[in-house]
Amino acid sequence: MRRIAKFAAGTALATLVAGAVHAQENSVEVLHWWTSGGEAAALNVLKENLEEQGIAWNDMPVAGGAGTNAMTVLRARVTSGDAPTAVQMLGFDIKEWADLGVVANLNDLAGEEGWAEVVPDALQEFSKYEGQWIAAPVNVHSTNWLWINGEAFDAHGGEEPQNLEELYAMLDAFKEQGLVPLAHGGQPWQDATLWENVVLSVGGIDFYRDAVINLDEEALSSDTMREVFDNMTRLAGYFDENFSGRDWNLASAMVIEGDAGAQQMGDWAKGEFLRADMAPGEDFVCMRFPGTQGDVLFNSDQFVMFEVGEASRDAQLAMASAVMDPGFQVAFNTVKGSVPARTDIEDTEFDACGKKGMAELAEAAENDALAGSLAHGHAQPSSVQEAFFDVITQHLNGQLSTDEALERLPQAIAAAQ
Ligand code: BGC
Repeated sequence: MRRIAKFAAGTALATLVAGAVHAQENSVEVLHWWTSGGEAAALNVLKENLEEQGIAWNDMPVAGGAGTNAMTVLRARVTSGDAPTAVQMLGFDIKEWADLGVVANLNDLAGEEGWAEVVPDALQEFSKYEGQWIAAPVNVHSTNWLWINGEAFDAHGGEEPQNLEELYAMLDAFKEQGLVPLAHGGQPWQDATLWENVVLSVGGIDFYRDAVINLDEEALSSDTMREVFDNMTRLAGYFDENFSGRDWNLASAMVIEGDAGAQQMGDWAKGEFLRADMAPGEDFVCMRFPGTQGDVLFNSDQFVMFEVGEASRDAQLAMASAVMDPGFQVAFNTVKGSVPARTDIEDTEFDACGKKGMAELAEAAENDALAGSLAHGHAQPSSVQEAFFDVITQHLNGQLSTDEALERLPQAIAAAQ
């Protein structure tokens, strides 16, 4: 019943979208959330690539990490019959828009260019809908990273913490150095990014899968999950008092400027360090979040083309083709902090963190140690993701005790399904 209702809504939407008058030949209007310094630099690589091909770029930035705000704007645009030509999108959102029947089919192009042979299965899962390509993946990001200020790290002895206890020892040392030990931005998606790292560290990849991917009730209210929430409380003790609402790139800036010791964040943070002319391994350290070595939580930015009429078709295909070009994927991802979405690319041009990211992604795929990020749309559809976010954030802000969070989590998830 639910599915039929969805398709019916989709038909009405499709009519509206087809009526869009904005679409112009040889131009693309691109809705995205790449507004930080590092993100904008990476986006520029794409923009320039298209402009060299004579395709004009009509920029539609919507600030807000992880794209939550961008998706709200997208919904408003599509329902008013004014869909953008191309949209940056994550995992389950791609499926949800495809369900509505409003996105363009890229299957012919994908076939001609052999995408299926070079895009890993974990990504194809989201790039295809009912066997048809509907999205072009530009990268693979990973969320289980820790970013450390080089000087603070050296002053603590230059040893990478291997587990949570060693992490706490390092954070204590940063406190003694007069730094904010852990720079954090209190926004639900950032809280959830930290939380999924802690789940992986405390419980390992199988527990992450049970609790976050399979929504196993026992796992969700287990002693291991209690340990996760207790560790979240302990980590919050290392934030500064102004963490609430802070954007992720401002938290990165605290580490860059030497006001904070470390930040837990996905590898888009590297884009900020590079923009600040900092050298990996010297001015900053990139390491897997302690206790998650060998495992990779991933998300992939993909471009989805909306059905906006024939006039835009060529420009849309040119953009999708540019995104998948191997040379472009190197130029873009070396700036963005992510790694290529293609498996046939050498790591030569990548810095030490990029090389590590590429090797570890391949190893994790090989060892069945790869799982989708909850905070970045690759573990659950948006309704269930929001249920997680609510409990995680309320707990981190002290509005729920650990007992209450453990009780609330399975309930909120069940209600969202
Ligand atoms: C996206 C990244 C982006 C980050 C912060 C993630 O969900 O995949 O491309 O840089 O959010 O906005």
